[in-house]
Amino acid sequence: MDLTARAAKLDAEDPLAHLRAEFDLPPGTVYLDGNSLGAPLRRVADQMQRVVREQWGGRLIRSWSEGWWEAPRRVGERIAPLLGAAPGQVVVADSTSVNLFKALVAAVRLAPGRREIVVDAATFPTDGYIATSVAELTGRVLRTADADELPAVLGDGTAVVLLNHVDYRTGRLHDMAALTARVHAAGARVVWDLCHSVGVLPLALDALGVDLAVGCTYKFLNGGPGAPAFLYVRRDLQEAFDQPLSGWGGHREPFAMAPDYVPAEGIERGRCGTPDILSLLALESALEVWDGVALADVRAKGLSLTDFFVECVTELLPPGAVEVLTPRDERRGHQVSLRHPDAEAVMTELIAREVIGDFRSPDVLRFGFAPLYVTHADALHAARTLTDVLEA
Ligand SMILES: Cc1ncc(COP(=O)(O)O)c(C=O)c1O
Repeated sequence: MDLTARAAKLDAEDPLAHLRAEFDLPPGTVYLDGNSLGAPLRRVADQMQRVVREQWGGRLIRSWSEGWWEAPRRVGERIAPLLGAAPGQVVVADSTSVNLFKALVAAVRLAPGRREIVVDAATFPTDGYIATSVAELTGRVLRTADADELPAVLGDGTAVVLLNHVDYRTGRLHDMAALTARVHAAGARVVWDLCHSVGVLPLALDALGVDLAVGCTYKFLNGGPGAPAFLYVRRDLQEAFDQPLSGWGGHREPFAMAPDYVPAEGIERGRCGTPDILSLLALESALEVWDGVALADVRAKGLSLTDFFVECVTELLPPGAVEVLTPRDERRGHQVSLRHPDAEAVMTELIAREVIGDFRSPDVLRFGFAPLYVTHADALHAARTLTDVLEA
């Protein structure tokens, strides 16, 4: 069967195919950057009209007591099933960077006698910057290590280990079960950055005993540009979770306006200041698309799309034209990274031809395959366009 027929067959058999119509994508564009900024759901524009006109405009400040103030927790409960988390452990507030700061400082405070913070050497830069700052502020030592080298690095001096579940550059997926167990065996805490795995594959934070996790909502959760991030704190750690950004939003009685800070009980203590309501409610609306969606189907389709794209690239491009950086086995997220010496110029040309991926310095072309709205036909079109660009 040729590639066109294969794409058609795979798309015809796709149990998630009906969801594409929920997204507002420009006709003729192949959008493969949902790992950076997810596409908008049609329902979000309508919901934002209602929020601005009826809630903000119609109810004015009364809206704060009509659902706005509780939104960080309520939206967190919607994300919890995607994380494999029971209720009461996820709050949506601030950015991933800010939540990383809260989580790392709190983790260090949970282990007063331990001196080291360990960070995945291939981490997304913001994680490394924040960890450096946390180490300086708390008088700890920062150590970077490849995830494969962790056993050699961990010891009774390790306070916390910060790991990215999926490597943003290569798409490599780390083994959360094994690494969490390894960190725990050293008596340390683990913080997982789930930016590239939430909405990609079934997660099992509770079952694996993960301590803390953060992640953004504007990629595979389609919350919109700058949508607030989530913070997961395992229930039994919440009472001791002492995060440093002691704003009134995390106070036990925020409207008592008391002079002293008393943290809220439970996950609410992960909050800091006034929630960004418009973004939060856009995200809440976007999350409705997950109702009834089986993450196993999402995962199966993501693997199929990425496999098929690599197959198309391999068949259509001359041998050696690009190097596939993403693992070929299942240890990968839903992106394919290709190395090419002129990656930046190639991506510029692809985007000019309405195939939108992105470029990561110095030589990586990234293509994200969001299973809710990308098709195998899109993958084939992208591979053909890449072939045309490289031939030109
Ligand atoms: C792995 C990872 N962590 C963190 C971030 C960014 O965090 P923030 O939401 O604070 O910009 C990104 C953004 O792409 C990311 O890929």
